[in-house]
Amino acid sequence: MRSIGLIGGTGDIGSALAVQLAKSFETVLVGSRNQEKANSSVKEIISEKPSRLELKERLRPVTNEFAVSTCDDLVLTVPYGAAIGTINSLSPIFKDGQLLISAVAAITKSGKEFEPVRSGNSVAGAIKEIIPRVKVSVAFQTVPARVLYEEREIDADVFVCSDEDETFKRTSDVITSIKGLHPIHVGSLAISEQVEGLTALLLNIGTKSHLKTPTFKIKSF
Ligand SMILES: NC(=O)c1ccc[n+]([C@@H]2O[C@H](COP(=O)([O-])OP(=O)(O)OC[C@H]3O[C@@H](n4cnc5c(N)ncnc54)[C@H](OP(=O)(O)O)[C@@H]3O)[C@@H](O)[C@H]2O)c1
Repeated sequence: MRSIGLIGGTGDIGSALAVQLAKSFETVLVGSRNQEKANSSVKEIISEKPSRLELKERLRPVTNEFAVSTCDDLVLTVPYGAAIGTINSLSPIFKDGQLLISAVAAITKSGKEFEPVRSGNSVAGAIKEIIPRVKVSVAFQTVPARVLYEEREIDADVFVCSDEDETFKRTSDVITSIKGLHPIHVGSLAISEQVEGLTALLLNIGTKSHLKTPTFKIKSF
């Protein structure tokens, strides 16, 4: 049975991915630090999507620990400041060969503008150091949660960093299961700070140009 787990799945991008991934995954584990919060988050999604009858079967509220101990494929959807602490606390449970896609954007706000965090290491790079046995990739940073949650039409490129072609392929399979999202392999985890910081650029463009849900689409002329 095809399943996927969301670590911190009760937030904006976690709920949005849950709504989308449940179209092709038989089970989507919506993870939380707190089982009650996971329960109410899933309940809310189901009540807001009455026409999506399959959500009741497919969305399963769980703890983050249960998601990590159960799923081969996982997406990390927690805020930047919580990412490393979350992975540290879950690190003993991860298994060899699991896929962890980090959607974490490393951005900060300086006055009215957003900036990438420049720490010298990406979030994904730091995660890989904590759990080297896991296949880590970076994706979804520039995909607006609201568009996915509201199931609006989208045509967006999703920038992916990974160290191995196989990890890119597995990540691409998750991305292409969502209609309108197209994976682009940017490079290795060594340059993933570039992708993790792109959200700052996108948010600044959105603010200046009055765009509520901007995203990226690469063109070549
Ligand atoms: N929003 C978007 O459009 C979007 C798009 C692409 C990528 N992202 C990135 O995805 C990540 C999540 O974004 P979001 O907007 O969904 O964030 P969010 O709603 O603020 O948080 C997501 C979840 O993270 C968990 N969390 C919060 N603080 C935590 C902590 N201190 N320790 C452990 N878990 C904590 C919470 O789950 P529990 O309380 O249930 O544990 C929360 O529901 C961010 O890094 C963001 O940059 C966001």
